[in-house]
Amino acid sequence: MKSEYGVRVIGTGRAVPDRILTNEDLSKIVDTSDEWISTRTGIKRRHVLSEGENNSDLATLAAERALEDAGVKAEEIDFLIIGTVTADLIFPSLAVLVQDRIGARNAAAWDLSAACSGFLFGLQQARAMLASGQGQKALVLGSEALTRLTNYRDRNTCVLFGDGSGAVVLEACDPEENTILSTGIRSDGSLADLLKCPKGGTADPVTPEIIESGEDKIHMAGKDVFKHAVRNMGSAAEKALEEAGIKAEEVSLLIPHQANTRIMESLAKRLAFPMEKVYMNIEEYGNTSAASIPIALDEAREKGRVKPGEPILLLAFGGGFTWGSALLSIKETK
Ligand code: UT7
Repeated sequence: MKSEYGVRVIGTGRAVPDRILTNEDLSKIVDTSDEWISTRTGIKRRHVLSEGENNSDLATLAAERALEDAGVKAEEIDFLIIGTVTADLIFPSLAVLVQDRIGARNAAAWDLSAACSGFLFGLQQARAMLASGQGQKALVLGSEALTRLTNYRDRNTCVLFGDGSGAVVLEACDPEENTILSTGIRSDGSLADLLKCPKGGTADPVTPEIIESGEDKIHMAGKDVFKHAVRNMGSAAEKALEEAGIKAEEVSLLIPHQANTRIMESLAKRLAFPMEKVYMNIEEYGNTSAASIPIALDEAREKGRVKPGEPILLLAFGGGFTWGSALLSIKETK
């Protein structure tokens, strides 16, 4: 990408609900077991919103923490983009609610719908806007309340999802200080049926019958999604490395979307990437959709797993299908 300005990540933050739902808890609700969930997915616990708590509460906290980490005031933000499919309201957007709560009064704020890839789609959008001189600073979030779209009568899906929010602050800089080496996004709408909420949108607004059938909640053809996730994140990674002109061995940390430990292992194998260099926290949070990558990024920085200046590779895959990559480094430690 040829651009006027460089772009760098200068802060990260995350927030998850306090309430925890364990595999043991779920085995009392549906016919499942800790053994099945652990071995098939890698998940042990997930953090879930309590009644009265909402996506906007998590997003506000994650945004404030990222701003504090970056040493940036909310009024300095030009763009506030939130990747989400679980906004508090159908409209207005989650982003404008967060804008108001954090006091980002000089920003343009909007949501972006790309399911689990929403954060990387937002990162690419913000990067392009800052690199072309349309603003100085951006806040990009992935923020989800997926448990509000989960059918707790369906064991195929209810064990997978958790709630959470992650944020990064981006800043336009001198091209020589640029630390975002590449971003790439793709989608394939011909496979939309494999992962979706079949009803409850404007085509089939919710009725008591729809609620009873669970069709307003997440449906997924798990095995198909698994296969496409490995294939598409794999090709996204290869393209990102090629574009940036660096070898897989030079990447110091891989942060894939946290959907299934077995997906991450298959992906690492395909890329000949040692598992020690793959960041995983799915055990604690489950699949938090668009929030999974920025939560993992913030946590990895806190644990010292993101080495200053060393390239890290972010990879996402989700409903749509959508997928994407970002290859970047972060100078500052947390
Ligand atoms: O974030 C967006 C991207 N999402 C993903 O990437 C998710 C991708 N898919 C997956 O991670 C996996 O496909 C799942 C974890 C969803 C399912 O794992 P699987 O190994 O593909 O299992 P399966 O759906 O083929 O089911 C195998 C068996 C079935 O029983 P039978 O038909 O063999 O008797 C299921 O009924 O496991 C059964 N099963 C369960 N058993 C206990 C499915 N869910 C459960 C459960 N507890 N929770």
